[in-house]
Amino acid sequence: MDLFEKIAANRGPLGSHAHYAHGYFSFPKLEGEIKPRMIFRGKEVLTWSLNNYLGLANHPEVRKADAEAAAEYGMALPMGARMMSGNSNLHEQLESELADFVKKPDCMLLNFGYQGVVSIIDAMVNRHDVIVYDAESHACIIDGVRLHQGKRFVYTHNDMASLEKQLERAKRITDETGGGILVITEGVFGMSGNQGDLRGVVALKEKFEFRLFVDDAHGFGTMGTTGAGTGEEQGVQDGIDLYFSTFAKSMASIGAFVAGPENVIEYLRYNMRSQIFAKSLPMVLVVGALKRLELLRTQPELKDNLWTVVRALQSSLREKGFNIGTTTSPVTPVLLAGEISDATQLIFDLRENHAIFCSIVVYPVVPKGVIMLRLIPTASHSLEDVKETITAFEAVAAKLDKGLYSKTQVTV
Ligand SMILES: Cc1ncc(COP(=O)(O)O)c(C=O)c1O
Repeated sequence: MDLFEKIAANRGPLGSHAHYAHGYFSFPKLEGEIKPRMIFRGKEVLTWSLNNYLGLANHPEVRKADAEAAAEYGMALPMGARMMSGNSNLHEQLESELADFVKKPDCMLLNFGYQGVVSIIDAMVNRHDVIVYDAESHACIIDGVRLHQGKRFVYTHNDMASLEKQLERAKRITDETGGGILVITEGVFGMSGNQGDLRGVVALKEKFEFRLFVDDAHGFGTMGTTGAGTGEEQGVQDGIDLYFSTFAKSMASIGAFVAGPENVIEYLRYNMRSQIFAKSLPMVLVVGALKRLELLRTQPELKDNLWTVVRALQSSLREKGFNIGTTTSPVTPVLLAGEISDATQLIFDLRENHAIFCSIVVYPVVPKGVIMLRLIPTASHSLEDVKETITAFEAVAAKLDKGLYSKTQVTV
């Protein structure tokens, strides 16, 4: 069969919605400055869908640092991969400051979080080793695991009895192969907002020999007393052997890093294919990240403001009877019952009549019959924004309950 014909017949689980969703439900264009009120199709909307947790995207000091760095360095510098010709003092300074911030001996910058995670996993294990990972892991973890040529076992999300069972299976294999075990989980799960049970995982180190790799994309900057992440929040940062975060969320930028022991980071520098064979992070992003990190360290009020909004949003939703699942982080899912047609009508109503913009998650990401609206509070939102949103949510949920959304697909 011709590959292009096959693709024409099967657009993939998300792509099959493209004919009605594109430009509105998927690939929407939010325009204007990054702040709670942005422009969607020419109209102002209150936005809850950007991972700009600390409000740094549009912070005046950040904007100034980015602009000055762009004027000074351009986008090209440094040229080449870090290993060949793309290293700089500023790259190394950022690595050292990040390592200090997350309380690890050393750190390595990564061009993108997704590629970084895939490549860390690829570099850490060979066919004699076994990976044990949480069932709700992000796509980058799943894709890293896919590259693995040895055994992999998945444990039920955050279920320590299940993890223990999988570790027993893993141990039986490594006893034979002489390999090691890598456990992978997230600090904060980006869909449910659950924290990974890092304390539970670390406690299992008393019984099993393994190394723990944590993707803390949503926890870095938002969790823990200093913002050092979910390990700090749960008092087990030392038990995390490799700590990862992207710059795409709290840092409101591009890039990522992995932190851990010096010899392991050095090994990664010389063995991670996604970094050895790719251009170094541009200087503009490095200088911008240094400024963002400085603000994270010196302006704890950013995290405090975030949590004021998080608490107000989550407690108001709960008071009004909304099911927000089991979140213990800023990520705020709102779970409703309905079909995809209801979901599209409801989102259309929210955006067009209530000027509220949030992300929508439907089957296959959540089970059939469930509509998940996902709200990401930020330090820039106000308590007034929360009130307005709750009023709108009550209105649309009442309509959904009464079956007032038609069963026809919204076309926009
Ligand atoms: C848990 C998690 N890991 C990794 C990534 C990928 O990071 P990046 O956007 O830097 O590729 C994301 C999304 O940004 C994420 O949510």
